[in-house]
This record gives sequence, structure tokens and C-alpha cells, in this order.
Amino acid sequence: MTRSSKWRALAFLGVAILAPLFSAAQNPPARANMCNACHGPNGNAVLKDMPSIAGQPKVFIENQLVLIREGMRDIPQMKGVLDNVPDTELTELANHYTSLKIAKPPAQKQTALYDKGETLSKEMRCGICHLPTYVGRDQMPRLAGQREDYLLYTMRAMKANQAVGRDPIMIASLYGISDDDLKAISHYLSRLNN
Ligand code: HEC
Ligand code: HEC
Repeated sequence: MTRSSKWRALAFLGVAILAPLFSAAQNPPARANMCNACHGPNGNAVLKDMPSIAGQPKVFIENQLVLIREGMRDIPQMKGVLDNVPDTELTELANHYTSLKIAKPPAQKQTALYDKGETLSKEMRCGICHLPTYVGRDQMPRLAGQREDYLLYTMRAMKANQAVGRDPIMIASLYGISDDDLKAISHYLSRLNN
């Protein structure tokens, strides 16, 4: 072997060894195809009452996946979906979805409803946990840009105490709120482009 062909061989070996590492970081986990069937392309939901999971904090996704797998958060549609899926794969899924960008919110908004939602969210101090930009952190979900119908659906369920496995402090923070106020908050949060 000549000197230069030896270097070429070494360089080739380097690429051969490193390529799978890089592609592992970029390729979505195989199971993500199934998730996207419900949660939408790249985790951006297009179905009614379905949460987008793109851009959610990693810890939030990971926690929810464990709760759902163990049947502690009751989601009939996801029954069986995570049976026997190991923790390592749940972490891969969380890493994948947290790295994706949430889609731009719909441009159309109802100004009076939006303003009411903004005032209520401030008064009720939702940003203390979800952050003032509502992008979430750690176990606190992103609310900014989430689907309006999902926000309303899930807050109604929490308020009616029908959301099995949801955080009791979260449920308590909706105590006594009216349905009209939930509508305003959902509209406001769904239009935030943060
Ligand atoms: C058959 C449809 C379906 C499939 C497949 C599915 N999900 Fe879900 N998922 C749902 C629904 C519906 C909800 C919300 C239900 C609710 O809040 O009552 C949900 C909730 C979630 C949540 C909590 C989101 C939030 O904002 O509270 C996460 C995280 C999640 N799914 C991740 C996944 C992942 C990852 C996969 C693939 C392994 C997956 N889902 C597959 C229907 C599905
Ligand atoms: C003490 C901290 C805290 C406060 C205050 C708080 N939240 Fe939450 N919220 C959480 C946590 C933690 C979760 C996720 C855990 C869970 O759902 O069990 C959550 C979940 C949610 C969800 C479900 C989102 C999803 O994708 O699943 C909505 C909607 C929400 N909060 C809205 C609000 C609104 C509106 C307010 C103000 C009225 C508020 N939160 C105040 C901690 C808080």
C-alpha cells in the first residue's frame, strides 16, 4: 500500500465509524412514525383535541411517557402503544420530539378573547410554572402554540377531575374558573409564537 492510499483507507475507516453515530442523532426513532400518525407530522398535531408534542420540554415528554406506559395517566387512544417499550427508547423519543420546532400558530385571532386570556393568565400566575413565555421547562409543559381545542379539552377534563394522572397542583390552579375563562386562556395561549 502506498502512503497516500493508506491515508485514504484510514480516512474511509473514520467516516465508516463516525457515520452511524451522526445518523443515530439525526434519524428519528423508528417508533416515531407511529406516534406521528396521531400527533401529526414532526409532532405537530392536525387532528382535533390532539396535542402537539414538538418542542415540549424533554423531562415533560419523558415523564408523561412513563406515566402513560404504566397506565397512571389514562389515555385510551394510547393503550398498548408503549407496552414493553424500554426507558432508553422513551428517552430517545423525548430527545427527538424536544428537538423539533412547534409549527407557527394560526394567524387569525379574536382580539377581545386574546386580550382577556392574556389578562387572566397573568392574574392567575400561570407563568410562574409554565414560564412567562409559556414555553415550559422541566416537568412543566409548553402551552405556547399548542392547539386551542386541545388546551380547552384538557383543561375542561382537569377542572372536572376527569384527567386521571394529572398533577394535583395543576388541577388546583384551575379551581373555580368559568368555562368562558378557559376558552379565553386557550385562545390566547394557542396564538403565542414563542
Ligand atoms: C392512536 C393515537 C395515538 C398514538 C399512536 C400515540 N398517541 Fe400520544 N396521545 C394521544 C392522545 C389522544 C393524547 C392526549 C389525550 C388526553 O390528553 O386526553 C396523547 C398524549 C400524549 C402525550 C402527552 C402530551 C401532552 O401535551 O399532555 C405525549 C408526550 C404523547 N402522547 C407521546 C406519544 C408518543 C411518543 C407516541 C409514539 C410512541 C404516541 N404518543 C402515540 C394519541 C396517540
Ligand atoms: C404550580 C405549577 C403550575 C401552575 C401555577 C400552573 N400549572 Fe399548568 N401544569 C403544571 C404541570 C406540572 C403540568 C403537567 C403535569 C400534568 O399535567 O400532570 C401542567 C399542565 C398544564 C396543561 C396541560 C398541557 C399539556 O400539554 O398536557 C395546561 C393546559 C396547563 N397546565 C395550563 C395552566 C394554566 C392555564 C395555568 C394558570 C391558570 C396553569 N397551568 C398553572 C404546573 C402548573
